[in-house]
Amino acid sequence: MQLESREIDGSFAREVVGVRLWEPQDEATLAAIRELWARCGVLVFRRQILAEEELAAFSARFGKPERIARSDWASPTCAEITIISNLKNPDGTAIGGLGQGELEWHTDQSYIASPATGAMLYALELPREGGATSWANLHRAYEGLPDRLKAAIDGKLGIFSYAKRLSGYQSNDQAITDEIRRKTPDVTHPLVHRHPQSGAKALYFDPTTTVGIVGLPEKDSAALLAEIAAFATQPRFVYRHRWQVGDVVMWDNGFLLHRRDDFEPSQRRYLKRTTIALPRERHFVPTGALAA
Ligand code: SIN
Repeated sequence: MQLESREIDGSFAREVVGVRLWEPQDEATLAAIRELWARCGVLVFRRQILAEEELAAFSARFGKPERIARSDWASPTCAEITIISNLKNPDGTAIGGLGQGELEWHTDQSYIASPATGAMLYALELPREGGATSWANLHRAYEGLPDRLKAAIDGKLGIFSYAKRLSGYQSNDQAITDEIRRKTPDVTHPLVHRHPQSGAKALYFDPTTTVGIVGLPEKDSAALLAEIAAFATQPRFVYRHRWQVGDVVMWDNGFLLHRRDDFEPSQRRYLKRTTIALPRERHFVPTGALAA
């Protein structure tokens, strides 16, 4: 099967051409997309028109669909779909979450011991300007890292805290139930992990969520994590996606950070996301544990 795809802006991301995601895909096409996704991390499909069930069904071809801890952001009609939007219901309550303004570099679910690392985002309404999403490739960043920094983090565990993540959210996204709090204790993950097939290494950390490194004083951890974040998010490791309505972007949180540019709050932005537990035998998947 020859899947047609092309490089975007000379980056690691690729646009897949000629695949209509609302149609059932044959096994050869799916196998080719799986291989490309595991290798490149970000795949873009333009001009898609998908019902929620179709987006969920396509996502499920890559791993187990995950209902994220924030059930308050789920679509009322399809629990596997998370709404990312600044729109409001007539009574003023938010439709979905993470809708406002800039989002700092992060990786989804890093605060979970066994994160579901696959994600798809489907754009339905977009602001006229701003709101682009960028991804930083943590495999390429690790490869480029000076030996001094590699030695400082190889074999070390990062500590990841949902409380830290929440503190960076807009105020309406900060309120959580006791159940969500119970589901999100601090966890640890190796700061460097290996691809199961190639053995290649990638960084795994999250500037919005990693609060320290096991065995290092707080000040030293903070300085090291800040240095690594500045290195890994240089433009040479980053793909910046300028959204068009109908885009579906799928990405692998196992070796990518992402962030979103600010945009004018009065303009509507409405996207639908799925979260997928990707198979460990094909993808970088962190091996976490509860923090001591
Ligand atoms: C996200 O971080 O999942 C949302 C990204 C975006 O809204 O572009």
